[in-house]
Amino acid sequence: MAEFALPKNSVIKKGKTVRAEGAKKPRNFKVYRYDPDSGENPRYDNFQIDLEECGPMVLDALIKIKSEQDPSLTFRRSCREGICGSCSMNIDGRNGLACTTAIEDVKGDVRITPLPHMDVIKDLVPDFTHFYAQYSSIKPWLQTVTPTPSGKERLQSPEDRAKLDGLYECILCACCSTSCPSYWWNSDKFLGPAILLQAYRWLADSRDEFTGERLDELEDPFRLYRCHTIMNCANVCPKGLSPAKAIAEIKKMEVERQI
Ligand code: SF4
Ligand code: F3S
Ligand code: FES
Repeated sequence: MAEFALPKNSVIKKGKTVRAEGAKKPRNFKVYRYDPDSGENPRYDNFQIDLEECGPMVLDALIKIKSEQDPSLTFRRSCREGICGSCSMNIDGRNGLACTTAIEDVKGDVRITPLPHMDVIKDLVPDFTHFYAQYSSIKPWLQTVTPTPSGKERLQSPEDRAKLDGLYECILCACCSTSCPSYWWNSDKFLGPAILLQAYRWLADSRDEFTGERLDELEDPFRLYRCHTIMNCANVCPKGLSPAKAIAEIKKMEVERQI
């Protein structure tokens, strides 16, 4: 009979607890820790902080923990306002951006883990190598055959420009892809919602002249058609985008070109 158990070295252990003595408004943060150089199992550390002396967002709490309690805590962040996409992580069981997730919106202890189903480099930092390779594979740049008009930009009508709304805002945080069960099981071959939304961004661009080639590349049982309309991607996107809709548009284009 098959046995399903985690390998011993991946079982998450209980870690240390750091208290905030004398805190007026204490709150517990249960943070995933993993250091591959230590040879030790991952663990959850508990950090108690005083919300009276902390900004309102989960990222504020992580920065406070790193500054005051444990400088070895590792996470990515840059813009602090939902633009760079680097602080994506799983907060209280839901993928999101630490800088735009309010602490008060989380009930009880705030449990923070890396984005699911990605290799972990350290603590809350996942390895994006494969994700970026998939992004590169869709050739995310304007491809043309006609020469660039001399001294001019390639122009678009306001209507054509509007077709990019809901697509260009993607910050490649990967919250959607790492929420998609189909991507969890097939990420080696399925491009996943984030990359497919980006692929549609170029298919929808009136200036791009490689639509046929792009559709040829996507027409594959895995790369595109492993999307089974589960919809987690649209539900979780912190920018309010719908990769599911973009994927449906690609599937429509694939069908329409055969009619
Ligand atoms: Fe992040 Fe949304 Fe782009 Fe997905 S579609 S990568 S969740 S911004
Ligand atoms: Fe996954 Fe979104 Fe499709 S969650 S299965 S990519 S609709
Ligand atoms: Fe840039 Fe959160 S720090 S999106």
